[in-house]
Amino acid sequence: MKKILLFLIIPLFLFSCNKNTTSNQVPRLILRYADNQPKDYPTTKAAEYFAASVEERTDGQISIKVYPDAQLGEEKSVLEQIQFGGIDCSRFSLGTLSELIPILSVLQLPYLYNDSEHMWRVLDGKIGNELIEEIEKYDLTGLCWFDAGARSFYSRVPINSTKDLEGKTIRVQESELMSQMIELFNATSLQLAYDDVYSALKMEIIDGAENNFPSYISKEHYQVAPYIFLDEHFRLPEIVIMSKVAKEKILNLNPEFLDIIKDCAIESSLYERKLWAEAEINAELKAAEAGCVITIPDYDERMKLRMITNPIYEKFTGREKVLISEINMQ
Ligand code: GCU
Repeated sequence: MKKILLFLIIPLFLFSCNKNTTSNQVPRLILRYADNQPKDYPTTKAAEYFAASVEERTDGQISIKVYPDAQLGEEKSVLEQIQFGGIDCSRFSLGTLSELIPILSVLQLPYLYNDSEHMWRVLDGKIGNELIEEIEKYDLTGLCWFDAGARSFYSRVPINSTKDLEGKTIRVQESELMSQMIELFNATSLQLAYDDVYSALKMEIIDGAENNFPSYISKEHYQVAPYIFLDEHFRLPEIVIMSKVAKEKILNLNPEFLDIIKDCAIESSLYERKLWAEAEINAELKAAEAGCVITIPDYDERMKLRMITNPIYEKFTGREKVLISEINMQ
């Protein structure tokens, strides 16, 4: 009998010692990270990469659990939750975040950059850093920028020119600036959550929407809206944000961990950019294979589109106006 008891007790004792002494294997802080994209999307894969590096570099003391597929809510609701610390980290589209932090809207202007390299010169440079610092004023911490390519229009019916946008109902993110742009094209905007776009297209509540290639494919919009007008009106980066509550918990645990987390985020951003470039190519190929019709506006048409959106630029004054001219000079 004694023998049996010892046999049962010793492993239990060892297990509990193990738990207490090797604290580096038991997380002392668990953070929840939200993303509204699926598990195999570049941003969520980069989030997992971020989580793994944080875990490794804090000796397992911080564990980040990534919730893909909007499991913690759509972006607008996540933004509310992160402000009171209900969610610790999230990746946001700039379209959502600039509703809370208006200065970020300058990066959301239509036809702002010449190309992707131009955008990354801005984000990786002084302007990008200043804007990340600005986020701190809203009791949030900006960790890094992610690539989300360029957004173009797509529709259930052909769009071959700016004129074809007239009279159409186009879904936009829950963003006033986006709605304003649609109205300038004499179209009607409908602000809808990302998850509702597919059914709105299918039920013909909207004629079209606008997004980047990977989202267009991943959310299967291409099956119901096969006509793409590749005008690349927005080049909206995405940002990984951390709540003030999470930041304080990290600082209490070990002040050095905050810098570690920031470094890991920057590394995950470089990884995401690589994944993004591959995802864009694959999504474009998939659209072509599925028989989607892609119309690329020529230079004159692009200039026309840019001119139509001029009134949005004119609304920006003061510091924002200065920022826009600095961006143009990059
Ligand atoms: C992109 C972005 C999402 C966003 C979506 C939208 O796909 O990655 O975060 O929600 O655009 O148009 O709402």
